[in-house]
Amino acid sequence: MSDANVPKGTDDVLVRLTGVSKRFGEKVVLDGLDLAIPRGANVVIMGLSGTGKSVTLKCMCGMLNPDAGTVSVDGVQVNGASRKDLRRVRSKMGFVFQGAALINWLSARENVALPLREQGLKAREVDEIVDQRLDEVGLSDIGDKFPGELSGGMRKRVGFARAVATGPDLVLYDEPTTGLDPMTTRTIDELIVAGRDRYGATGVVVSHDVKSALRVADRIALLYEGRVAAFLTPDEFVASDHPVIRSFLDLDPADDGSGRRAP
Ligand SMILES: Nc1ncnc2c1ncn2[C@@H]1O[C@H](COP(=O)(O)OP(=O)(O)OP(=O)(O)O)[C@@H](O)[C@H]1O
Ligand SMILES: [Mg+2]
Repeated sequence: MSDANVPKGTDDVLVRLTGVSKRFGEKVVLDGLDLAIPRGANVVIMGLSGTGKSVTLKCMCGMLNPDAGTVSVDGVQVNGASRKDLRRVRSKMGFVFQGAALINWLSARENVALPLREQGLKAREVDEIVDQRLDEVGLSDIGDKFPGELSGGMRKRVGFARAVATGPDLVLYDEPTTGLDPMTTRTIDELIVAGRDRYGATGVVVSHDVKSALRVADRIALLYEGRVAAFLTPDEFVASDHPVIRSFLDLDPADDGSGRRAP
C-alpha cells in the first residue's frame, strides 16, 4: 500500500478512460468520466449504489461500449476494437465477478483451468498451474468439489484463483467482499494485495466496504454524478470532507480496520 506502487507522472498508465459517457435510455450513468489507472497499482472505485461502478468496469473490459469517449488498456483502444484486438486485450485480464460467477457444473479445478485451456496450454501444464493456484488460495483439498458444495468465501477464493490463473496484467474485481464475514473479507483483501505484489497485476476493485478499500488501495476513486469526483490516497480519503466520502466513513466510524483512525 505504499506510494511506490503508484508511478509518478502519467506515463505509466495501464487503463485510461477519457471523457467516457454512457446512458441507458434517459438515464445518464457516466457523464464525461476521466480515470487513469497507474500500472502496478490497486485502485478502488467507491460510490453509492447505482452510480455506475459496474458499468465502468464493463467499459474497461469491452463488455459495454461507451456512447462517447475512449477506453484504452495498455495502449489499445478497447471501445470499437476488432474482435481479434479485444480477445488479445482480454487475454491479459482476469475478472472476479460479483458473486464469483463460477460455472456450477464444473468442479473448482475445472473452473480454474478454463482460462488456461483457452490459452492452449497442455493438460499437464494446466494441472500444475491449477494445483499451484488452489494452493495459494488455501484450497488445495477442495479442487474436486462443485461450486454448490462450497461456502461463499470459498467460491470467491476459487474465483480469485481463476482470475489470476494465467498471470494477467490487469484484474478487475466487482464487489469481491460483499456478503462475506470480516475474517473472510480479510482473506480476500490479502489475495487482492497479493494480486499486486505476488503477480505484479494492476487491480481495479469496486467496493462498498471502506475497511477493505483502505486495506487494499493505493488510490481510491470516488464515482459521483457520472464522474470521478476524487482520486485519493487512503490517508487523503480518510481526511476528506466530501459528503459522500464522509457518509461512507461515518457509517464505519473511528476504527477503519487499517490501523488508521478517522478524524
Ligand atoms: N445493461 C443495462 N441496461 C439498462 N440499464 C443499466 C444496464 N446496466 C446498468 N444499468 C443502469 O445503470 C446504472 C448504474 O449501474 P451499475 O450497475 O454500474 O451501478 P453500480 O454503481 O455498480 O451499483 P451497485 O453498487 O448497486 O452494484 C443503474 O441505474 C443501472 O440500472
Ligand atoms: Mg455494481
